[in-house]
Amino acid sequence: MSKLKIAIQKSGRLSESSRKLFEECGIKISNGAGTLKIVASNFPIEILFLRDDDIPQYVEQGVADIGIVGENMVFEKNKEVDILEQLGFAGCRLSLAIPKEENYSGHGFFINKRVATSYPHLLGKYFTSNNITATVEEISGSVEIAPGVGLADAICDIVSSGSTLLMNGLKEVETIMKSQAVIIANRNILPGKKLILEKLLFRIRAVKNARENKYILLNAPREAITEICQILPGMKSPTILPLAEEGWCSLHSVVKEDEFWDRIDQLKNAGAEGILVIPIEKMVL
Ligand code: PRP
Ligand code: ZN
Repeated sequence: MSKLKIAIQKSGRLSESSRKLFEECGIKISNGAGTLKIVASNFPIEILFLRDDDIPQYVEQGVADIGIVGENMVFEKNKEVDILEQLGFAGCRLSLAIPKEENYSGHGFFINKRVATSYPHLLGKYFTSNNITATVEEISGSVEIAPGVGLADAICDIVSSGSTLLMNGLKEVETIMKSQAVIIANRNILPGKKLILEKLLFRIRAVKNARENKYILLNAPREAITEICQILPGMKSPTILPLAEEGWCSLHSVVKEDEFWDRIDQLKNAGAEGILVIPIEKMVL
C-alpha cells in the first residue's frame, strides 16, 4: 500500500509541536537527526522534513500529499492547496514593527517608507488595501535587524512571544494577520491515500479536542446541582454520583480549557468544593 507523504518543518517554531502531534496520535517516528525522510513504524505515512517556506509548493505539486505549516506561510505563498484543519498550536501574528523610539500615529506612518519582510505578498496586499505607497524590501531571514543596519525604516514579520522585537529595539504597531499551524492538502490525493488521511485526521481531531478540554470533578450540596449544571454544559449532561456524606454529590464533566478559570469562579460561588481539573488524553466526539 502506498504511504501518505507528510511535509513538516525541519527546524523552527513548528517542528517540535508537529512531531509531538504524531506522538500523541500514537504514531511512532524515530528521531533520526539529519535525515530528511522517515517512515513511521506503525502507521502508513512517510514524513518529509522541509523548510516551512517550501511546504505549500511541495504540497501543491504533490511531492507531499499534506503538510503542517503556519497559515501565514499558506496565505503568503498563495498556492493551490486546501486547508483541512486548524491545529491550535504555533500561534503568532504577522505584524508591522518600527524602531521603538519613533512616534506612531497610524498606518500613514508607512507612506514612502521602506519596509523589510519575508512576506512581500501579504504586506503588498495590506499596503494596497490601505492606499499606502511604500517600498517593500524582500529579504529571506533575520528581518528584524534591517532597521538597525539602515536597510529599512520598518519591518513586517512574525511575532510570537515578542522577544525578537524587544531584543532588536522594535515595537509592534499593526497586526496584518493572526496565524496558527494548519494542515494543508494537495487537491488530487489518490483514493487509497485519502483513506489514510481520514484515519489520521480522526486521530488528530481526538488529540485536538482533548487539548482544548479538561475533565472536571467537584463536590457540591445536592441543592446546588441545578445551578452548577447550567454553568457546566459539558459533553452531554454531567455525571452526578451521590457521596457517602448525606446531601452531597460528586459531579463530573468536561470544560473548555480557555473557559475553565472563568467557570471555576462561578462554580465556587454556587457552592462547589474540592474542584479537580484533569487533562484529557484523547477525546472522540
Ligand atoms: C519568526 C520571526 C522571528 C520570530 C519571532 O520566525 O521571524 O524571528 O519568529 O518570534 P518571537 O516573537 O517569539 O521572538 P519563524 O520561526 O517564523 O521563521 P523562519 O521559519 O523564517 O525561520
Ligand atoms: Zn521559514
